[in-house]
Amino acid sequence: MTHAAPRPHRLGILISGRGSNFLAIAEGIAQGRLTGAEIAVVISNRRDAPGIAAARSAGFATEVIEARARQRAEHDAEIIACLREHQVDLVCLAGYMRLLSAEFVRAFPQRILNIHPSLLPAFPGLDAQRQALAYGVTVSGCTVHFVDEELDHGVIVLQKTVPVLPEDDEHTLAARILSQEHVAYAEAITRVLSGRYCVAGRRYVPIASLDRAQAETE
Ligand code: GRF
Repeated sequence: MTHAAPRPHRLGILISGRGSNFLAIAEGIAQGRLTGAEIAVVISNRRDAPGIAAARSAGFATEVIEARARQRAEHDAEIIACLREHQVDLVCLAGYMRLLSAEFVRAFPQRILNIHPSLLPAFPGLDAQRQALAYGVTVSGCTVHFVDEELDHGVIVLQKTVPVLPEDDEHTLAARILSQEHVAYAEAITRVLSGRYCVAGRRYVPIASLDRAQAETE
């Protein structure tokens, strides 16, 4: 008897702009670095987002769900319905420039990831690279984290660091961080989809490290 392969985990990607992180995730799947996952739908809250045009021409299912003058909860309800319709297992915010309502976060508990271009908790919010330069840090990077009800705050899944060089401006620093973002997001999705972790307080703990700790006590 042959067993059917398990169905791939379905990703719902939310964007507002360029979409380079979405494209890096798609490339990770195409190249087999990110296995057991498929992109179910790409949703943009902006009709003119270059990323949604790229998604459309690459043949992905796309939706534009604009906020217009609507309340956040109403707009989010439409996005939640769309994600459900596409049977999404994991939501990936990739340059999605809107805060999520509490209802949205609760609809996908520990199932929403975001990527932020700084080493959180430093420099949350807008213009993280500019904030890092202005502060004078010599190391920065990116963070992939679960989304909770506070801005750029949930449990950290993975961080990658880059140096901040004396000659950097916000564009050169952003580009250096972005190249790490493109590696980090696929890695973080792989970690979460593996299910081999638990969350202890604010800490993401891989099961392998729990196994090692257990073995050392035996
Ligand atoms: C990235 O720097 C990401 O960290 C931040 O918004 C930017 C989106 O870039 N949240 P892109 O649209 O994925 O190219």
